[in-house]
Amino acid sequence: MRNKPIGIFDTGIGGISVLRTAKRALPKEKFIYLADFENAPYGSKTKQEILDLTLDNIKYLIDRGIKAAVIACNTATSAAIRDIRQAYSIPIIGMEPAIKPASQKFTSGKTIVLATPATLKFMKYQKLYESLGNTDVIPLECPGLSRLIEETKPNSIEIKNYLKNIFSSFDVKEISAIVIGCTHYSFIEDDISKQVSDVSIFDGRYGTVRYLKKALEENNLLSDGKQETELISKHDDRKYQDLLIEFMKTPLKYEDNF
Ligand code: DGL
Repeated sequence: MRNKPIGIFDTGIGGISVLRTAKRALPKEKFIYLADFENAPYGSKTKQEILDLTLDNIKYLIDRGIKAAVIACNTATSAAIRDIRQAYSIPIIGMEPAIKPASQKFTSGKTIVLATPATLKFMKYQKLYESLGNTDVIPLECPGLSRLIEETKPNSIEIKNYLKNIFSSFDVKEISAIVIGCTHYSFIEDDISKQVSDVSIFDGRYGTVRYLKKALEENNLLSDGKQETELISKHDDRKYQDLLIEFMKTPLKYEDNF
């Protein structure tokens, strides 16, 4: 069992940021990465649609014989993780926006949470805001941004204009932290810093990978084999397979954090 692969799922290239962090933290593991380009983006779908698609994708990975699964998508995590954990007995790890560490570090200024409309809508995060009692945690929906990142690539003029527009209603000097609440946005940390200077960016992918490592250790599932990575696109079009390969090499800020 311990030398079986770890399955990582996202709607597109976002989870590649998690996969790359996991590859650093777990050098002896085999990874199967599944991207559902066929049905992406999930961010504007209903909870039921996201749940059904996520169940389907995790089932595919389970049928491939994985020993643990990472839902490397905040949108799918918030809609489906509870049901998936109930359906399977292997460790299932999800994404959680790093709101807590951000609001613990900063007691003044605004903490902006960037995520898809669906992620922000689902209860889990509303509860999280409440439990912190921090009125300065501001959810900011980014419809269409995940697709824009795949289509135009980081540092594009389109992404610059998109970010400029969503931050236009804020006095950027009042923003002390930005929480990355969608795995696609890890690839545009640089673009975000250019819009909001002197800001700390919090990315949940490190926490997810730490949690994955801990779950493997606790369940005696750490591999002693050789690292391997398989990238699978659910979309037949060759262009999507190429996109996965391209984002394996696209610069990621703070990649050395592990
Ligand atoms: N990477 C997904 C997330 O973290 C993207 C969502 C989408 O497909 O809209 O939310």
